[in-house]
Amino acid sequence: MAQFSLPAHSKINGKTRTYEAPANAQTPKTFEIYRWSPDDDENPRFDRYVLDLADCGPMVLDALIKIKNEVDPTLTFRRSCREGICGSCSMNINGTNTLACIQPIDELGGTVRITPLPAMEVVKDLVPDFKHFYAQYASIEPWLKTKTPPPAGKERIQSPQQREELDGLYECILCACCSTGCPSYWWNQDKFLGPAILLQAYRWLADSRDELMGERLDQLEDPFRLYRCHTIMNCSNVCPKGLNPAKAIAEIKKLVVERQV
Ligand code: SF4
Ligand code: SF4
Ligand code: FES
Repeated sequence: MAQFSLPAHSKINGKTRTYEAPANAQTPKTFEIYRWSPDDDENPRFDRYVLDLADCGPMVLDALIKIKNEVDPTLTFRRSCREGICGSCSMNINGTNTLACIQPIDELGGTVRITPLPAMEVVKDLVPDFKHFYAQYASIEPWLKTKTPPPAGKERIQSPQQREELDGLYECILCACCSTGCPSYWWNQDKFLGPAILLQAYRWLADSRDELMGERLDQLEDPFRLYRCHTIMNCSNVCPKGLNPAKAIAEIKKLVVERQV
């Protein structure tokens, strides 16, 4: 019979540490947060932090910052803009990938359980390793590519309609909530580009100024890179910016078919 063993530190069975609310707390709320550090030999664990919401900002990121500043400075997470623009604070909150800075706490009933994005290596606590994701992004060559020179002394212009083709694409902040919510990406991310990178690939295919559509499609037309998407739609359900990566993927597949007829 086949025997399987889990890698070291993959079981969440470390001893929970609990940080109680202040004695005079008016609105206590419990946050259970995934903790793991490469600096010791311990397994991951969930720590419990009870905060007084009467003395805390409204978003999950406010709670994390309060914990780090006032309760436990060892808690590690990424953040920058605090307004849903940089994509740094993506994490899984009560089972859904989203941005901590735009997730109101009062929309979350009961204990708030926070883990890193799934299906990525963990660097520490809530910080996932984006190296592979960024390498995949680089692989689609996300910049304008042309064969002809621009009109002398002029920019490459677009009509308002051509510019509109990029709406719903350029707003992607590369937070990876969609890719790490995609079952196909969980199992095949070594070869499947995943919804975030495919949406970015379509952003350049849809750009009227780009002149290398054929070469871009050659790169994408592959049983794994593109066609591991099985239209499960988790990506579009989860995107915190309201984008539709599944539709962008469908558009790429359409372009591949159209050039064959
Ligand atoms: S499509 Fe949405 S979920 Fe995916 S990386 Fe872009 S902003 Fe994040
Ligand atoms: S539609 Fe495709 S990319 Fe999106 S979650 Fe489903 S399989 Fe993944
Ligand atoms: S901190 Fe920038 S998106 Fe949340």
